[in-house]
Amino acid sequence: MCRHLGYLGPPVPLADLVLDRPHALVHQAWAPADMRQGGTINVDGFGVGWYVPGRAEPVRYRRAVPMWTDESFLSIAAGVSSGAVLGAIRSATVGMPGGEDACAPFADGRWLFSHNGVIRGWPSSVESLAARLPVADLLRLAAPTDSVTLWALVRNRLQSGMSAADAVAATVAEVGAAAPDSRLNVMLTDGTELVATTWWHSLSVLCTEDSVVVASEPWDDDPRWQSIDDRQLVVATLRPDGPHVTVRPLRSSMIEVHLPPDHAARSLAADVRAGLTASPKTLPPKWFYDARGSELFERITRLEEYYPTRAEREVLAARAAEIASASDAHTLVELGSGSSEKTRLLLDALRDNDSLRQIVVLDVSETALRDASSALRDEYPSAQVHGVVGDFTEHLSLLPGESPRLVAFLGGTIGNLLPAERAKFLSSVRDVLSPGDSFLLGTDLVKDEQTLVAAYDDASGVTAEFNRNVLHVLNRELNADFDVAAFEHVARWNADEERIEMRLRATRAMRVHLPGVDLEVSFEQGEELLTEVSAKFRRETVAAELTAAGFALREWWTDSEGRFAVSLASAE
Ligand code: SAH
Ligand code: AVI
Repeated sequence: MCRHLGYLGPPVPLADLVLDRPHALVHQAWAPADMRQGGTINVDGFGVGWYVPGRAEPVRYRRAVPMWTDESFLSIAAGVSSGAVLGAIRSATVGMPGGEDACAPFADGRWLFSHNGVIRGWPSSVESLAARLPVADLLRLAAPTDSVTLWALVRNRLQSGMSAADAVAATVAEVGAAAPDSRLNVMLTDGTELVATTWWHSLSVLCTEDSVVVASEPWDDDPRWQSIDDRQLVVATLRPDGPHVTVRPLRSSMIEVHLPPDHAARSLAADVRAGLTASPKTLPPKWFYDARGSELFERITRLEEYYPTRAEREVLAARAAEIASASDAHTLVELGSGSSEKTRLLLDALRDNDSLRQIVVLDVSETALRDASSALRDEYPSAQVHGVVGDFTEHLSLLPGESPRLVAFLGGTIGNLLPAERAKFLSSVRDVLSPGDSFLLGTDLVKDEQTLVAAYDDASGVTAEFNRNVLHVLNRELNADFDVAAFEHVARWNADEERIEMRLRATRAMRVHLPGVDLEVSFEQGEELLTEVSAKFRRETVAAELTAAGFALREWWTDSEGRFAVSLASAE
């Protein structure tokens, strides 16, 4: 069962929050009021974490005894004050270990986390989710319990740059789907924001003029306590005008994660091992796209110099109705969907065409996919939205959706594949198309070198940051020690291959350690690492590649300046 409490407000003694109220946490340990948990008591330990001025990381006090028996805590709680606190009392699930390490709050950096509930069928029910975690995280789990596993899953998302609310919502939805009947009331704070969920257990919120308390049970009968419905996400912050609390429904997950359980560990490791030991050194561009990389790409699409997004949007705006009536699609499948921003033009047209029933978006970036899926769900409530975290070079055969389907691959992302990879990718798209399905392909076109280079080397340096982001990914995922600032961004037009090539150039000689792949690599001063190619096309090359893969090119549209093309093809 467990009970927990979070507080944001002016500094108050800990005793005021967990001991002194008529039905304070200490009381809930032996006499919880909400009996839906079956009347068990919470005496298997407790913990309180709090933030102190001048320290980013919180302080914690945990003991594996009932709170009321710890005289030392009862004494110091009266003399220690804080404006941000997370307290928890534990009722150990049968079979789980005891001890301080298993008591919430769990901590990492500035975060404090607590779980009130149980993961049903643990550990086997969530084995495939836990297998996605880096081995180093698994080896460092504070205790082998369901709550600590849940914390590790949330923390992994926080580390990839997700917001606290998204990390909690995504993890709870995913664990809830993998282990039905679980009880997943969690609480997470960084001392400035408090995120909590209701998933079976009770939760109440008390807002005063200058503080907010989120607690499993009200600590008194103040009529301002608000009980939160089941399956909600609560986000509380303090703003200059007072506390701000939002409550929104948690959705059950319609996101499938098709990346193999050890994707980060195995696939990235294999790519890095092969790429960094090759000469010249190279890395595949799909590793740009963690949460930060996806965000940087979105910024690129808004840059003055980066014309492809605007040019493709112009074509889609002009042709969406034609595409909708030609495809008459019930399902729009988008590969490498990112934010699915331009896709709305197609979706609106399919909705106007009265054919839209399902939207399937696939991306390797889980954050981008979750944000896009949830926005699409709100904007197209009558369509079923299905998010798939996966690799479009591997997981096409697993895509759901009823025919006729319109499979869209926009943005010119096909140009980021090498010719042999393109041929293989196009054939695998062709293989999953049924008669009557269509394929919509966005391709950037060959043009003058100056325009092209400017698009990949913008004056404000966003593309440079995007390029360098891949090194941050390696530092995080593989414990590498790249000095990211020591690499400069290079974007060059390769006229023979008709492609832009992005590289990272070492500004000094260096040795880089990548313990996650058991590798050490040297860079000479001036040595370049190829991080992305972005091929530019002509009508003949697109037509030839589509034909070779078994497609018939039905339509070819370009923007008014002839910079970008959108092709509509069907299976031959
Ligand atoms: N289609 C969007 C986004 C393009 S950015 C647009 O036109 O603006 C490229 C997108 O492809 C990113 O969201 C990235 O995460 C995704 N991506 C890159 N390689 C991928 C792969 N191998 N499998 C799935 N998604 C991939
Ligand atoms: C996703 N892809 C089509 C982009 C491109 O233009 O090749 C990625 C990108 N790289 C630098 N800027 C944008």
